Amino acid sequence: MKIFLIGYMGSGKSSTGRKLARKLGYRFIDMDLEFERVYSVKLGDYINTHGETAFRARERDLLEILAHDPGEAIIATGGGTPCFFDNMGLINKSGLSVYLEMHPRSLAQRLEASLNERPLLKGLKDEDLLGKIEKHLEERRPFYNKANIKIKGESLDMEELVRKIKDNIA
Ligand code: S3P
Repeated sequence: MKIFLIGYMGSGKSSTGRKLARKLGYRFIDMDLEFERVYSVKLGDYINTHGETAFRARERDLLEILAHDPGEAIIATGGGTPCFFDNMGLINKSGLSVYLEMHPRSLAQRLEASLNERPLLKGLKDEDLLGKIEKHLEERRPFYNKANIKIKGESLDMEELVRKIKDNIA
């Protein structure tokens, strides 16, 4: 079984994924780090040099490799991964998807301190952050909403998440 965590930047996909992997005894894969390992490049450098379109194509290639890899894993996707090509279709065909849903204000609060580490938010003024997240979420929600499981990220209860996952794979 593969479990894909999806959601906006800052929604806690990687930290939740790590905890979940420990609880379920699965391998954990962070797609952004895997991208850097497989393509031997910093993700930010790749996007700056080649642009977002090229990044999305390489990201799709990586998703295909991970989706077809046999074995169990918790995979934290990048915030935009589900929203390009038929990535959400591939994710749902290959395993269970979990959307960590968060209010734009909560995301803005979490992202404020790390804006310059996020290639797509770099250079944004603090006062423009909330509007950018809201606009992004308008575009991305239809994809995120295709997830098998949705859970609020603000006060995430790991036991509840594990229960929901077990109910879905029973
Ligand atoms: C992106 C999110 C990032 C990373 C890339 C693009 C996005 O991942 O994949 O910078 O489009 O939302 P995180 O959600 O892990 O920060």
